[in-house]
Amino acid sequence: MSGDDLIESLEGIYHIQGRDFVDAGIVSSEVKKSLQGKGIPESIIRRIAVITFEAEINIISYAQQGTIQLFIEPDAVIIEANDMGPGIADIDLALQEGYSTADDSIRELGFGAGMGLCNIKKFSDIFELTSEVGQGTHLKSIVKLNG
Ligand SMILES: Nc1ncnc2c1ncn2[C@@H]1O[C@H](COP(=O)(O)OP(=O)(O)OP(=O)(O)O)[C@@H](O)[C@H]1O
Ligand SMILES: [Mg+2]
Repeated sequence: MSGDDLIESLEGIYHIQGRDFVDAGIVSSEVKKSLQGKGIPESIIRRIAVITFEAEINIISYAQQGTIQLFIEPDAVIIEANDMGPGIADIDLALQEGYSTADDSIRELGFGAGMGLCNIKKFSDIFELTSEVGQGTHLKSIVKLNG
């Protein structure tokens, strides 16, 4: 696929401010709204909503700021989350169930179970997580629309 095709399939770009817990969940509901009424099965929308929500909360919890981009292609939905932040030193460790560095302020809000990234991976057909320590984190999740 060429870059032009990808730009054509761009449905939305959402900006996320670090530590802005008041707005937590807005991006995932916007994404959900964008997917409704397009003939996408409800079960797939639910998976994408979870992926987006967990990515959104991670940016709010750990990064200074970031974006989530939503692409709708004929055969797949792509969610890309990019942030400027501390990055993740050990990606395998971060992907382990129950691993969390969430501080008390995050835990008080009910987050920090260490389940977000592994749930994103579980609900994705294709999952990519890369990071540069001190720079930020890039997450790409592809959910296929037909099987
Ligand atoms: N965007 C990010 N930038 C920096 N570190 C991150 C980012 N996303 C995740 N991490 C690190 O990976 C760990 C695991 O993330 P994960 O989302 O799986 O769990 P959590 O956020 O700690 O808890 P939960 O998602 O269950 O509320 C985090 O505690 C944090 O250390
Ligand atoms: Mg999380």
